[in-house]
Amino acid sequence: MEAIRVLIVDDVCETCENIKCLLHFESRIEVVGEARDGEEAVKKAEKLRPDVILMDINMPVLDGIAAAEAISLRVPASSIIMMSVQGEQEYLRRAMAAGAREYIVKPFTSDELTATIYRVYELEKKRKIHTQGSYIPRSRPEGQVITVFSTKGGVGKTTLAVNMGVSLVQDFGFSVALLDLDLQFGDVAVMLNLMPRQTFSDLAAEFQQLDGELLESYLMRHSSGLRVLAAPSRPEYAELVTAPLVEKVINLLKTRYDYILIDTPGIFTDPSLVALDHAHQILLVLSLDLPTLKNVKLGLEVLDSLHHKDKVKVVLNRATPEMGMGPGDVEKTLALPLTSQVPSDGRLVVGGVNKGIPFLLSHPQSRVAESLRRLTQLLVQQQGTRNGQKKGRGFLGRLRSQLV
Ligand SMILES: Nc1ncnc2c1ncn2[C@@H]1O[C@H](COP(=O)(O)OP(=O)(O)O)[C@@H](O)[C@H]1O
Ligand SMILES: [Mg+2]
Repeated sequence: MEAIRVLIVDDVCETCENIKCLLHFESRIEVVGEARDGEEAVKKAEKLRPDVILMDINMPVLDGIAAAEAISLRVPASSIIMMSVQGEQEYLRRAMAAGAREYIVKPFTSDELTATIYRVYELEKKRKIHTQGSYIPRSRPEGQVITVFSTKGGVGKTTLAVNMGVSLVQDFGFSVALLDLDLQFGDVAVMLNLMPRQTFSDLAAEFQQLDGELLESYLMRHSSGLRVLAAPSRPEYAELVTAPLVEKVINLLKTRYDYILIDTPGIFTDPSLVALDHAHQILLVLSLDLPTLKNVKLGLEVLDSLHHKDKVKVVLNRATPEMGMGPGDVEKTLALPLTSQVPSDGRLVVGGVNKGIPFLLSHPQSRVAESLRRLTQLLVQQQGTRNGQKKGRGFLGRLRSQLV
C-alpha cells in the first residue's frame, strides 16, 4: 500500500519532533519534510508534493492562513490540516476558507492525529474519483540516479557521494538513498558513523520476494535523513551482490526516492555497470596527478563506447594550484570541460572522515562545503535523461560487442 506522505509545518522545533514521535509507529504514514514558517512551507509543498500538510496557524514570516491560501492554489493535490490551540476559532474559520481541509486542536493524541490524517487522505481520494471518473495514483516523478564513478581509487568518490547525499537532503529537501557498490571495501557506512546490521549481501537472500517495503527495512537512516544501503561486511561476500539484484534495487528505489546516489569502486564491475546504465548523470571524479589522469582518460573512452559519455560530468577533487598540473591540462587531455572543482582541505575533510561526520555538517560554511553545495545544485538543475539500457553479457562482452 502506498505511504501517505506528510509535511509538518511549525515554527516550534519541539512540536515538530513531538508530531514525528506520534507518527513514528504508523507504517502507512511517512514524514517527508518539515518547514519552520509559511514561506518555507509553500516552497517545500511545491517541491515535495506531500499528500497531507500539517500546518500550524500562528507562524512568523508568512502565517498558516496565507500559506494555506498559496498552497491550495499552487499544489491543490496536497490536503492541509490546520493545527491550532483553543481560542483560535476565528482564525480557523479563515483557514478553512483559505483552502484547509480539516483542523485539529493542540494538544492532540496520536490516535486523534492519525485518524484525522487518514480521514482527510481518504476524502481527497474519493474527491479525485468523483472529479476525474477514476482514481489516478499520485504520480511522483521517477527518482533520478546519480552514479559517482572513477577508474581510480582514493580520488574522493565516497567523500563526494556522502556529502552530496547529505546536501540533497538537508539543503534541497529531497528524499535520497545512497547505495554503496564498492562491494569489497566500501566505506560509506564508516564515513557516516553508521553500524550496519544488514547489508547489500544480506539482501541477496531476499531476491525473489524483494519489494519496496522489504528493501526499506535494509536501509539505514542517517541523522541527516539520508538512507543508506551499506556494502557487505566482508570482501568475500561481495560476489553475492549480482547485477540483477542491483538492477532490482535501483528500480524499486526509483519509485520511492527523489534521488538514488551510487558510490562505486575504482574499476568496472558488473554491478557498477548496472549503476552506470541506470544513471541519469555520471560524476567522473579525478584528482590532479598523471596516473589518475591517464586512467580516467581510458575510463572515459570506455564510457564513450558504452554510450554513456553524454551523461558524464567531470569533477576535479582536491584541486590545488601548485601541483605542476592544472585544471586546463585536465580539460585538454579529456577534451571535456570540468563541471566542478572541489578544493583540497585535508584538515576538514580527513578530520571529518575520521570522526564519521561529513564536512557538510561539521563545517557547513567552509569553502569545500560551499563548492560541494554548488555542485549539488548544478546536478539538481540539470536533471538528466537516461539513454537506452543495454543488458547483461558482462563487462568484457559488452565492451567487445561495442568494438566490432
Ligand atoms: N577535497 C578533499 N580534500 C582533502 N582530502 C580529501 C578530499 N576529498 C577526499 N579526501 C580524502 O582522500 C581520501 C580518499 O577519499 P575517498 O572518498 O575514500 O576516495 P575514493 O572513494 O575515491 O576511494 C580520504 O582520506 C578523504 O578524506
Ligand atoms: Mg570509496
